Amino acid sequence: MNDQYLALSGTDAVRVLTITRPEKLNALNRAMLAALAARLDALARDETLRVLIITGAGPKAFVAGADISEFEGLTPDAATRYARDGQLVLDRLEGLPVPTIAAINGYALGGGCELALACTFRVMAETARLGLPETSLGLIPGFGGTQRLARAIGRQQALELILTGRQVDAAEAVRLGLVLRAVPADQVMEAAQALGNQLAARAPLALRYAREAVAAGLDRPLADGLAVEARLFGLAAASADMREGVRAFLEKRHASFTGR
Ligand code: COA
Repeated sequence: MNDQYLALSGTDAVRVLTITRPEKLNALNRAMLAALAARLDALARDETLRVLIITGAGPKAFVAGADISEFEGLTPDAATRYARDGQLVLDRLEGLPVPTIAAINGYALGGGCELALACTFRVMAETARLGLPETSLGLIPGFGGTQRLARAIGRQQALELILTGRQVDAAEAVRLGLVLRAVPADQVMEAAQALGNQLAARAPLALRYAREAVAAGLDRPLADGLAVEARLFGLAAASADMREGVRAFLEKRHASFTGR
């Protein structure tokens, strides 16, 4: 199931979605955003999928941003709709039932950085750069960057990166907690795969509920977060995988999870 801009590869359980427009550093145009939305919808319904890795084609870029050539002549209303459309695509990504890993192989700027921020995890090539340069264009991040970056690294650090448009290297990205780990460029896919395989072996519903509980808690008061956690703990306890996990422990064997 490949189209002009998106290539899907990998195993049933751990699939790799490659954004493929290397001649423009994988900059996201509207057609690509629409293709991405459709692809994410299909993947959300795919019960064999356990982990999705997203990366960019070519050696230079993950995604160098939204396609700047589409910005000229945007009216304020059209720009608002454009931002909202992009946000909804990245909400779909963040809301996928399976964990996602951005394998940041090169520049992740603007919409590319925002795409990575909507993933559950980020691993980054030591040669790659992350940043939100929109203020250099007289714009602000519009695909969730002002919201997810501040939640990921805190208000002060996020504001510095957004207001200066400064790009960070991998070592700084790790220090900021913006990415999970930095690896040599030729090992970024390997590192993402290793993490993906680790996640794919675990109980899918438990991973989904754990992500949901953490996300809910970060947006609400502690008491509300605790209530969400208890409710999801109850749902997990209703799963066949919970029974299998407990039985496997007691029988001193590896659990085999089905996602039920
Ligand atoms: N939108 C549209 N086209 C883009 C793009 C973007 N966000 N980023 C890169 N490209 C295009 C370039 O225009 C160029 O096209 P061309 O060969 O037809 O001229 C091609 O991709 C290669 O980029 P180039 O700028 O020549 O590569 P570089 O190595 O000199 O610089 C960057 C790399 C990432 C520093 C530079 O491309 C850049 O600053 N891109 C824009 C980043 C940005 O502001 N993103 C946020 C958008 S809101």
